[in-house]
Amino acid sequence: MLNFDTVIFDLDGTITESAPGITKSAAYAIEKAGYAVPDESTLTEFVGPPLYDSFRNICGMTDEEAVRAVKTYRERHHLIGWREARVYNGIFELLYTLKREGAYIALASSKPVDLCEKTLEYFAIRPFFDKISAPCEGEKDPGKRFLITQALPESYDRACMAGDRRFDMAGAKQAGIYAVGALYGYGTREELLDAGADEICESTAALRQALLGDTPLAKGRFITFEGSDGCGKSTQHKLMKEYLESCGVDTVNTREPGGCPISERIREVLLDVKSLGMTDECEALLFAAARAQHVHDTIAPALEAGKTVLCDRYVDSSIAYQGAGRGLGDWVRQINERAVGTCVPELTLIFDISPEEAIKRRLGVSEADRMELSKDDFRKRVYEAFMDMCKNENSRYCRVDASGSIEQIHEIARQKVVKLITDTNGGEI
Ligand code: TYD
Repeated sequence: MLNFDTVIFDLDGTITESAPGITKSAAYAIEKAGYAVPDESTLTEFVGPPLYDSFRNICGMTDEEAVRAVKTYRERHHLIGWREARVYNGIFELLYTLKREGAYIALASSKPVDLCEKTLEYFAIRPFFDKISAPCEGEKDPGKRFLITQALPESYDRACMAGDRRFDMAGAKQAGIYAVGALYGYGTREELLDAGADEICESTAALRQALLGDTPLAKGRFITFEGSDGCGKSTQHKLMKEYLESCGVDTVNTREPGGCPISERIREVLLDVKSLGMTDECEALLFAAARAQHVHDTIAPALEAGKTVLCDRYVDSSIAYQGAGRGLGDWVRQINERAVGTCVPELTLIFDISPEEAIKRRLGVSEADRMELSKDDFRKRVYEAFMDMCKNENSRYCRVDASGSIEQIHEIARQKVVKLITDTNGGEI
């Protein structure tokens, strides 16, 4: 059972590690005001207290200069500073599991409400929140007690506030709820205890333990990246990991053939030019053999530990390359059923690039040699097999148009991935 049915979170220092955007924006405002920019550790003192006070106390600005510096700070922070943050690793799984178990989740932050919305949306965690309690732009900070009280639902059984500063702890106690101090944020142990913290968590893992009780973390999500050679999926695979990690998702990137020591050795045999005489059957069995070990050593344990696994090629590559390309047909699916067991992806992104375009990209020429291409019916069969998979709209397959820029392709893939990983009604995962 969860330890709390209602959890109120603070944003900065509890969910998001927002210091980089704050210190960079402070440095920008200080420089614009004509003052010497202090070192990084001094700049960190800007995180938390009101900006106006910091510009005066840390830099020695006059009233007027401090007011102007706050304005300059806000201009930069609103434009880019708010994105120079990340969600603490492991927070995503905590929110997901809380939501899945039916908890009420709200945010109580002193940041303007629009910025809170934008931040939660950008880091893909907005769907987990039932309510956002924060001041409107330009409104005076109403204080944590008010914000926490406003964040609470009409009725609850056991509610707690998780925050990293004394205001969060004091506000929680004034609102009559349990106070959990997130020591991995920007406050100190003394500060949190003095303000009435009932419990201190040194890490996000400890926070998960404090909130989830004996409820295990939900199993991780399994997503595969597929497509013909030259479709750009490996670049997208890397970008997706970076994005998910900024969202606090514990992510494992792996690839096939390979992904664990034994399978990496099989990869060498498969891709080595010395293996030129390899039969199609030997090739298909080796891919499946490498996969069985990969599932056992890497994929299944990671999913079990609640991590999200992004795999660059998986069973569908065998179906396309060995099944369709080499013409080995359904037998390939059968041997792979044994190799993967129940470890089937929940989402398979198929990056679609036409064989003509793929050849252009590989050769780096502007015109594909169509004659050469038409002879290359192996590639065509592989491509068509992937496209056939995309035809079934209600399946795990999802076609991604890979003809645009790296950023455009990432955005299409990102939306599909976010939809999957934030869906808490998807049954057992
Ligand atoms: P790799 O260098 O990893 O290429 P890519 O970046 O395109 O993934 O080589 C893997 C090659 O192995 C690639 O041409 C596809 C092929 N392959 C299969 O034929 N069957 C499979 O089951 C897998 C996983 C890969």
